[in-house]
Amino acid sequence: MNGTGSGIMRLVSTSKTVSSTLVQMSEIMTPNDANFLGKVFGGSLLSLVDLCAYTTAARFAGEVCVTASIDRVDFHEPIEVGEVVTLEGIVSFVGRTSVEVTIEIYAENIFKRIKRHTNTARVMMVAIKDNRPVEVPRLICETREDKIRFLEGKLRRELRTRHQEERAKIYLRFAQADDAELDRLLSQESLS
Ligand SMILES: CC(C)(COP(=O)(O)OP(=O)(O)OC[C@H]1O[C@@H](n2cnc3c(N)ncnc32)[C@H](O)[C@@H]1OP(=O)(O)O)[C@@H](O)C(=O)NCCC(=O)NCCS
Repeated sequence: MNGTGSGIMRLVSTSKTVSSTLVQMSEIMTPNDANFLGKVFGGSLLSLVDLCAYTTAARFAGEVCVTASIDRVDFHEPIEVGEVVTLEGIVSFVGRTSVEVTIEIYAENIFKRIKRHTNTARVMMVAIKDNRPVEVPRLICETREDKIRFLEGKLRRELRTRHQEERAKIYLRFAQADDAELDRLLSQESLS
């Protein structure tokens, strides 16, 4: 009992397996989702990605979560209006208060019954309580795939931090450069 007298006990688990975090969502793409070529608009897909990330992270954390960042999403092939988009979200990495959700995206032609994998997206969510980031449960990696995915998430986080620091230094160099230096940099093949 949780002491409220309601007889409903809220199970707060401090660790959860990767497989228990799976969330699946499907939605049919309507003409409202079309871009100017009649294919699915990238923004419509990103909106579904964000919804799936929220559901997966909030269900895992047991708290409201906010989107901190979305990793690069590549659109390799178009999705057609009339296809069903399915998103499968799992928690791939956790920090202290942040949750990385990996989302596999599939598109299905419902008449031909052909389903194809179109994208993978990764979203960093942060659990929030009383307007502050709050600790999330630990993630139990049971399988080899879970462990590799977790390590990849950890690497992504380290590289993201390093990349942000390096970029900030170079931006400062651009901002402080005189016009001759800017022209010299513009004429270079590569900046590195
Ligand atoms: C995300 C947010 C809560 C982070 O707040 P903060 O004051 O930077 O908090 P902290 O520095 O304590 O960081 C909290 C966690 O977020 C992570 N984080 C913060 N900014 C991040 C970013 N841009 N990308 C990935 N992770 C980020 C930190 O690494 C940390 O993770 P950890 O606890 O697992 O180590 C805050 O920036 C925010 O509220 N952003 C707006 C979110 C929002 O409204 N999204 C929808 C946009 S429409």
